[in-house]
Amino acid sequence: MLDVQNSLAQPAHAVSVTRREDYAPPAWLVPHTQLDFDLDPATTRVTATLSVTRNGAHDTPLRLDGAGQQPVSVTVDGVAVNDWRIEDDQLVIPLAGDAHEIETVVEIAPERNTQLMGLYASGGNLCTQCEAEGFRRITWFPDRPDVLSRYAVRMTADKARYPILLANGDPVAQGDLDDGRHWAEWNDPYPKPSYLFALVAGDLAVNRDTFTTMSGRTVELGIWVRAADLAKTEHALAALKTSMAWDERAYGREYDLDVFNIVAVDDFNFGAMENKGLNIFNSRYILADPDTATDYDYDAIAAVVAHEYFHNWSGDRITCRDWFQLSLKEGFTVYRDQSFSADQGSAAVKRIEDVRGLRAAQFPEDAGPLAHPVRPDSYQEISNFYTATIYNKGAELIRMMATLLGPVTFRAATDLYFERFDGTAATCEDFVACMEEAGDVDLTQFRLWYSQAGTPRVSASLTERDGRTTLRLAQHVPTTPGQPDKRSMVLPLKLRLFGAESGRALTDERLVLLDQPSETLVFEGLAERAVLSINRGFSAPVIVETDRTAADLGFLARHDDDPFARYEAMQQLMLDSLVAGAMGDTAGHDAVIAAVSDTLANPDLDPAFVAEAVLLPSESFIGDQLATVDPEAIHASREGLRRALGQRLDDQWREAYDIAPEAYVYSPQAKGRRRLRSVALGYIAASGAGDAATLAFSQFTAADNMTDRQGALATLANSDADEREAALDIFYNRYADNSLVIDKWFQTQALSSRADTGAAVAELVRHPDFTLANPNRARALIGAFAANQRAFNAADGSGYRFLADQLIALDKLNPQTAAKLLPPLGRWRRFDPARAAMMRAELERIVAAPGLSKDVFEQASKSLA
Ligand code: ARG
Ligand code: ZN
Repeated sequence: MLDVQNSLAQPAHAVSVTRREDYAPPAWLVPHTQLDFDLDPATTRVTATLSVTRNGAHDTPLRLDGAGQQPVSVTVDGVAVNDWRIEDDQLVIPLAGDAHEIETVVEIAPERNTQLMGLYASGGNLCTQCEAEGFRRITWFPDRPDVLSRYAVRMTADKARYPILLANGDPVAQGDLDDGRHWAEWNDPYPKPSYLFALVAGDLAVNRDTFTTMSGRTVELGIWVRAADLAKTEHALAALKTSMAWDERAYGREYDLDVFNIVAVDDFNFGAMENKGLNIFNSRYILADPDTATDYDYDAIAAVVAHEYFHNWSGDRITCRDWFQLSLKEGFTVYRDQSFSADQGSAAVKRIEDVRGLRAAQFPEDAGPLAHPVRPDSYQEISNFYTATIYNKGAELIRMMATLLGPVTFRAATDLYFERFDGTAATCEDFVACMEEAGDVDLTQFRLWYSQAGTPRVSASLTERDGRTTLRLAQHVPTTPGQPDKRSMVLPLKLRLFGAESGRALTDERLVLLDQPSETLVFEGLAERAVLSINRGFSAPVIVETDRTAADLGFLARHDDDPFARYEAMQQLMLDSLVAGAMGDTAGHDAVIAAVSDTLANPDLDPAFVAEAVLLPSESFIGDQLATVDPEAIHASREGLRRALGQRLDDQWREAYDIAPEAYVYSPQAKGRRRLRSVALGYIAASGAGDAATLAFSQFTAADNMTDRQGALATLANSDADEREAALDIFYNRYADNSLVIDKWFQTQALSSRADTGAAVAELVRHPDFTLANPNRARALIGAFAANQRAFNAADGSGYRFLADQLIALDKLNPQTAAKLLPPLGRWRRFDPARAAMMRAELERIVAAPGLSKDVFEQASKSLA
């Protein structure tokens, strides 16, 4: 057998690792930057004038980051020089004095920029994306987040093609030239790092409004899109105003410029970007109307608009000292947007959704070869560290500190942080120190959450003897790459005991800080046998193992007063039954069916909550519970329980489904009713009922909104009914000119539970509308397929080979997006030897691909290790 460790091909480039411990302050500062863009898709000329000052006493030359571009000219204090050199993609200029003015001229080609980093073309417009290291692809600059500069920007462009010219800050002046070109100047008074630079040139229409801040200033708001999309910007604009008001109320943060612009573009590597005063968005997080966007899309748009807006303080006014501190802005800002969304509707349902997302994306990451701490120690390519760990686990850390401090003190602590670090590039440590100081708490041990990777596991068991109830808690932090020995962490666990007979609470809710390997709590004089409700509200991002019986879990699923714990009890009950089912034991079905029945019948519950509670855990989450994932057995187990639930509760599903149709409105209540209806439809279909396809198809054709239409389509996409093809065709033809909806068409097919999904996806990559060049499209088909556990892990390895082929092709265009699609191949340790060998073989093939990017090399080689 091949020794894979030794056969690892070397990448074309030397692997260079950046380490947190190597941080050194910048040798030169750039208090002021003047950028002059002569814009053209084929050749854009960028003239950058940097005022530079020596930072401390040293004799190192000025080093400016670039990305292979040749300077057309270099000028120091107005005199052309030629004693510069290029070293490791840096322009090195010897300087004698302590302050100089450096001018460089470069030419770049936005229309050839398929990486979508730096200045690029999208849909005929020009736009930028600079985080994390895209600015160096535009011009020579110390492209690191701790060099803050005031930017003045001038853009010149063809007026007919690019009538709108936008940049950060405030507009200063504009004018026409006589050759059909025009120019505009923008000025950003706030010093910022280069990753927050942005410009947009294009043919765009605007939806305008104003917002009056808490101190009475008027801010001009604008959302810029293609003229045809203008009607789809109302929801985003409303969300922006709600976010601005919320940040004033919740955190005392006021907006600080006279204008705030958002531009939507179709080609974008991720969700959106918080450039100062000029946010640039993936159009899927802006455009919505009831006919084309689902409730999920509406929620996501509000959350991302809020997220980027909140970055104005947690990101722009206070940025990161280095990229190891990324969670300082991202974890905190995700926490802020989660809290915002919780305030807009059902906080309980929002918490359930957030935990479900954490478990789907972050827990597997933390348990696999790419596990890293919230504050990593090293990276090869920083783009690979925009992860669920940095973002979502990072948000959980902030949430735990908020829990430890309580709301009033947490607010005092964030006030202190905003005040003390305003205008600086800060660290995670700075944030924690503010929490500690304002909260008067010692967070020494808590800091392990920043440095130790891996999801802690807690075991909890309750025993009774002679009228005393004893709760034993123990923690274990698993080994992760590079971290063989772990220390005990501080786990804030909210818990409460309920009486097994009466259903009454036997104790208050209390917050237990488990900070030892194990601890014992004793409860005296409880009137009856107690049932444990633990990690209520998901107070700690941990995995809890208990010895609670199906009866106890069923009891909590009916009686727990904490909605999250109630949901969690149901999930655990389902999970236990599904795991047993994967081994052929279906005895657990009855308890699940009874608990689901009672949940559906409970008139006091919010339909949105019911819809979440009755949903079975995903196939991949079931897989995460098993030592070895057997995708077929898991699929069969889950489908078996779905069918049993569908058949045994047929009347209840139909009752939930048959609620009177109402005209579409986007409100938390209407959203919850739609969600429950589509879950009910799914169960009716799972039961095998003869009328299921007819029901789904008539919902599909009668729907006055995308939520119901796509819900019906997803149900049909799983079926063998004739209506399946018909619905897919109608959907495709109706939305042929709407790329965001066509993404749904691809994605729905890639997520299908049908046995032929792998073959269908292999066919769909040849569809004329499929392209790897658009990240949304690539993710809709390739990303969704790789998330479909059964289809992706086909026993013949075809899914692995397919993903590897697509990744290798995509890497040539867009390494960052390719690297993001790789992690499913790294889960080989979780599978049987045959699958594991095939996954490894594909990873090796990727590593050996000629001209591989460092983005994909890092992900693939770490996944093999
Ligand atoms: N800062 C952006 C946000 O709001 C995301 C930037 C992602 N950059 C990257 N290279 N992946 O979350
Ligand atoms: Zn962010």
